[in-house]
Amino acid sequence: MIRFAHSVASLRSSEIRDLMSLATAPDMISFAGGMPGNDLFPLETIDQIYHSLTDREKQVALQYGPTAGLPSLMESLADYLEKKGLPVKSNRLMITTGSLQAIHIMAKAFTDPGDTVLVEAPSFIGALSAFRACQAELVSVPLKGDGMDMAKLEERLESTRPTPKFLYYTPNFHNPAGIIYSREVKRQMMELLKGRNIPVIEDDVYSDLYFHEEDLPEMTLMKAVDPEGINICYTGSFSKILGPGLRLGWMLVPEEIYKRCELIKQSLDACSPSLSQVIADKFIRGGYIYSYTAEMRKAYRERGEAMIEALEKHLPTSVSFVRPRGGFYTWLQLPEGTDATAILKKAIEKGTVFVTGKTFDPDGVKNDYMRVSFCNTDAEAIQKGIPLIAEAIKDVI
Ligand SMILES: Cc1ncc(COP(=O)(O)O)c(C=O)c1O
Repeated sequence: MIRFAHSVASLRSSEIRDLMSLATAPDMISFAGGMPGNDLFPLETIDQIYHSLTDREKQVALQYGPTAGLPSLMESLADYLEKKGLPVKSNRLMITTGSLQAIHIMAKAFTDPGDTVLVEAPSFIGALSAFRACQAELVSVPLKGDGMDMAKLEERLESTRPTPKFLYYTPNFHNPAGIIYSREVKRQMMELLKGRNIPVIEDDVYSDLYFHEEDLPEMTLMKAVDPEGINICYTGSFSKILGPGLRLGWMLVPEEIYKRCELIKQSLDACSPSLSQVIADKFIRGGYIYSYTAEMRKAYRERGEAMIEALEKHLPTSVSFVRPRGGFYTWLQLPEGTDATAILKKAIEKGTVFVTGKTFDPDGVKNDYMRVSFCNTDAEAIQKGIPLIAEAIKDVI
């Protein structure tokens, strides 16, 4: 028997992942992925960028780089983030191998086995897995339509022992819940956290993909406020605004946290892919990032609207859903106690897939929700696939 470490003993392939491996038929319509549309990648721009590199730039691209990131990208990215109102001068920026690595590094920096951490229910599964890999105890705070339930957060803060090491939250176009945190909820969170020495990991990978400009004031980040007395650790990514295959994300954190995280990253992979960094840098400096994200907002809005229309037309009235205002996801609430896994089995038989609610539940139990994403399916596939999802729901409830 191989003697694996305790820290990975609890990591398992989920039942859902196993089910998904059945969903391989070539014409399967997938509402399961959380990835950008393959048809939407900026292929020509990337070709153009690569072919315009000098030999010197290509050498840099194929070489190891500094752990914190290539200086040119750190500069262009800092400028990009500063335009969003983020305090790049009073914090430190570090390029990471996807933002999931940034989250993982911070989890490593903050937690010892048995420590508690505060997370949302539901929450991004990748972050939950990272926290579990650090042997943290997940303490969940339920989400409402405008963010965490503040009464529950207060109660958890008062009663959780040992005191939570950090709080992890996703402010904009939540994965999977699709919501935006209101300014008022973020204000209350900061009020509740003040003076408790509990840092916040603010995971913001979707904020460029808003559908309605009027939502921007509501989307103001905690990091933009950067309140005295709370360490806000901001993370972001090129995955949803350029391509996840580049594996590039970042963290913007206070100096002291940065220093510890840099040491951890050094031990993990020394540096993030230089080739990706050279390309991302040119993508920002050439101004492509602004035109491309504007195009993506339009493309995903069309898909999101097609999704809303199809769901309104086909879902039984006992199922409600959050109308997406950006990002990639719709979150369906089934009648209480419904087993979304039974619906998934039916859906796969009919030629379509989604992700069940319990995948995102920190306790791995609550299954009367479904995440149906619209990012990698065009309007036509949505119109074809959603009636099948609705049929599968009706077969079960
Ligand atoms: C909420 C959230 N955070 C972080 C990530 C990780 O992104 P990446 O590691 O590709 O930057 C994802 C990916 O789906 C996500 O949905």
